[in-house]
Amino acid sequence: MTSDNATILGADCLSDPGVILGYRTGRKIPFEPLRLGDHARIRSHSVIYANTTIGHHLETGHNVVIREENRIGDHFCVWNNTVIDYGCVIGNNVKIHSNCYIAQFTTIEDEVFIAPGVSVANDPHPICALCMRGPTLKKGCRIGVNVTLLPHIIIGQSALVGAGSVVTRDVPPFAVVAGNPARRLRDVNELNCPFDLTQPYVDGQDVKAREHQDMQAEEQLREQIRRQAEAQGRRPGVPGIPGGQRT
Ligand SMILES: CC(C)(COP(=O)(O)OP(=O)(O)OC[C@H]1O[C@@H](n2cnc3c(N)ncnc32)[C@H](O)[C@@H]1OP(=O)(O)O)[C@@H](O)C(=O)NCCC(=O)NCCS
Repeated sequence: MTSDNATILGADCLSDPGVILGYRTGRKIPFEPLRLGDHARIRSHSVIYANTTIGHHLETGHNVVIREENRIGDHFCVWNNTVIDYGCVIGNNVKIHSNCYIAQFTTIEDEVFIAPGVSVANDPHPICALCMRGPTLKKGCRIGVNVTLLPHIIIGQSALVGAGSVVTRDVPPFAVVAGNPARRLRDVNELNCPFDLTQPYVDGQDVKAREHQDMQAEEQLREQIRRQAEAQGRRPGVPGIPGGQRT
């Protein structure tokens, strides 16, 4: 992949056939090239507009659209058929799954996870657009499958929004909310694994983040939970997976 005047590419970028980089918006804004950091991996039929800046290690699925005037950090991972509309700010290590719509002027901080089918709204009274602004997703929060987030709200740090929820109000940090309208169920640190495999969140941190920081401590935690379950007569394991282990 080479740079042209619509795109400034970092080193070691790979794109599949059918990818369009530096697509020009129809909006009347001064032109700036698309800037992509090193090691991007862009899968077939994705389109990334000019006037956007993305850090290192971008990874997209197929048919992803990232529009103009987005500022996106390093290690952004976005999967098939997701659309990032214009004017968003996205931090580092953000993962957005398939079939999501991220509305204009949404802010997503570092380490946020967005599950498949999430829709983000930005205009309380369409199509007025005078106060158009998406929600703010604070560091490390997780949004479950098929969630709808309404405009202007703040999802607090490390919070978890349950599957299918419609979130109409701010969510406090570390809260688990669910339902339509979403209501607080508990704190993320109070969630238990139904299979006694681990504690899903400790100090708001999920298993992957903990493994990354201290694998040994994470293994000790799992062993402790396994022993507690056995002492209480339960047999830890994942249903339907022979031996109860993930590969
Ligand atoms: C919200 C969530 C974390 C709650 O977990 P939990 O506290 O262990 O939930 P429980 O199963 O104990 O349910 C507690 C109550 O909340 C309800 N509830 C749970 N999840 C709900 C949801 N998403 N929407 C509405 N109500 C929900 C349950 O029906 C239950 O109600 P009841 O007490 O009247 O029976 C979980 O259900 C969820 O939605 N996880 C996200 C899954 C997801 O989207 N993953 C994305 C990766 S694919």
